[in-house]
Amino acid sequence: MLSVTYVSVADPLIGDDDIAAILVSACRNNARDELTGALVYNGHNFLQLLEGPDEKVEACLAAIRSDPRHDGMTEVRRRTVETRDFGEWAMLYDPRFEWQDEGLARLAANGRIDAADERMFANFIALGRRPIAR
Ligand SMILES: Cc1cc2nc3c(=O)[nH]c(=O)nc-3n(C[C@H](O)[C@H](O)[C@H](O)COP(=O)(O)O)c2cc1C
Repeated sequence: MLSVTYVSVADPLIGDDDIAAILVSACRNNARDELTGALVYNGHNFLQLLEGPDEKVEACLAAIRSDPRHDGMTEVRRRTVETRDFGEWAMLYDPRFEWQDEGLARLAANGRIDAADERMFANFIALGRRPIAR
């Protein structure tokens, strides 16, 4: 199986409705294609981890890459995996990051989330939380 994580820049005009629509597509298509993963939106950027059969991951990434709701997709991690980080979720999403504070740490304690993947999510969420000094 393939696990790919990327970051991208969200369209500045994106709203809650757009996020909801993305999740509807993601959950429907990913369940069909045996894909799982997690998506974080920090108000400016997306971080997404997609995992599953190699060719399904690649096809999904190609579709996502041409999506006008974001831009500048850049892979930050790509690896072959035996086990899934987010096997229980077609696409895990929590706008208030509560799963980061509780769920992800709990899952990691169970040995279910790769430590480097967990750090990526934690760092990305921390970036979104930190006010930019001027
Ligand atoms: C940040 C972001 C993440 C997305 N994640 C997924 C995903 O995990 N799975 C998926 O099928 N589509 C995802 N999409 C949507 C795709 O770009 C595309 O709109 C969708 O796959 C089209 O399928 P549909 O015609 O069935 O809605 C994502 C889009 C964005 C902007």
